[in-house]
Amino acid sequence: MTKQLEIQKLKVEKDAVILAHYYVRPEVQEIADCIGDSYFLSRKAVEMPNRTIVFCGVSFMGESAKLLNPDKTVLMPDADADCPMAHMVTEETVKKARQQYEDLAVVCYINSTAEIKSWSDVSVTSANAVRIVRNLPNKNILFIPDRNLAHFVARNVPEKNFIYNEGYCPIHENMRETEIRELKERHPEAKVLVHPECTGKILELADYVGSTSGIIDFAKDSADKAFIIGTESGVRYALEQARKDAVFYFPETEPVCTDMKKITLDKIIDVLKNGSHEVKMDNGHADEAAKRTLTRMLELAR
Ligand code: 13P
Ligand code: SF4
Repeated sequence: MTKQLEIQKLKVEKDAVILAHYYVRPEVQEIADCIGDSYFLSRKAVEMPNRTIVFCGVSFMGESAKLLNPDKTVLMPDADADCPMAHMVTEETVKKARQQYEDLAVVCYINSTAEIKSWSDVSVTSANAVRIVRNLPNKNILFIPDRNLAHFVARNVPEKNFIYNEGYCPIHENMRETEIRELKERHPEAKVLVHPECTGKILELADYVGSTSGIIDFAKDSADKAFIIGTESGVRYALEQARKDAVFYFPETEPVCTDMKKITLDKIIDVLKNGSHEVKMDNGHADEAAKRTLTRMLELAR
C-alpha cells in the first residue's frame, strides 16, 4: 500500500481531517483535505465536523485549533515544529504598555503562543489584520510579536497610534532586498508579490502585499504571466497549480521554514495510527483568555 492510500484509510478509520499550511512539503499538501493560510485554517478547524484534526503546520496552529475545539482531538505530526517568532514578546512589554496607555488594545498576530494570546485582546492574521485593527474602537495599539506586520498595518491604518515590539520571522526578515531588486531587473515584466512579514524595504518593491492566500489569489486572477514571490517557497506548489501558464521567481537564497518542512507523510501516518503528539491545553483561565482573543478575531473578521 502506498503512504497516500494508508493515510486515506486511517483518516476514515479515525474520522480525521488533515489541515495543511501552504509552507509544508508538496507531498503533504497533496494529501491534505484543506490547504490554506492561517486565517482559512483556523476557520476550517471550527467548521469541519470530524472528531480528529491532524494539523500539518507549526505548534501555534495546533494550539489555536485545540483552543477553538476543546472537544476535538488535535494531532501534530511533529511536536517540535515551532515558529520562533511565536515566542518573541515578554509579558513585561504588555504590562508596561497597559500601564502607559489607558485606551490600549493588545493585538497579537496568530503566530504567537497561547500564553501570549492570553495577555492580548484580539488575534489577527496577515489576511485580516488591517481590517480588524481599523475597526477597533481603541486609538492605541500594541501589536505583538511581529514588528514587520505591525509596520505594514500601521501604514494602512494611519489614524491609530502603534506601539511596536521587536519580534520577527527569521525567514522573511532574512530575505535580501538586493536579490529582489536583481530579480526585478532581470524580469521587469514580473509582478512582485510579497508577505507582510518581510521588512519595509522589501515591501517598498512590491506590487502586492498580502497573506499566502492573498498572494496565490492575486496570481490566479492576474493577466500577468510572471511573478517574483517574496515569501516561503512552499507556496510554489499552489502557485504552479493555479497558474500552469505562468512563471514564478523566488529569491536566490530560497526562503525555507525548516519547522514547516518537519512534517512528513511518515509522521502523519504515525500520529493517525498511534494518536501521538496530541495537543493538550491545561492552563485553565489562561486558555479561556487565549480562546477569547481567537474567537474575537473570527467574529470581527467575518
Ligand atoms: P499566512 O499563511 O497566514 O499568510 O501566514 C504566514 C506564516 O508565516 C504562517 O506561519
Ligand atoms: Fe514562523 Fe516564519 Fe516559519 Fe511562518 S515562516 S512559521 S512566521 S518561522
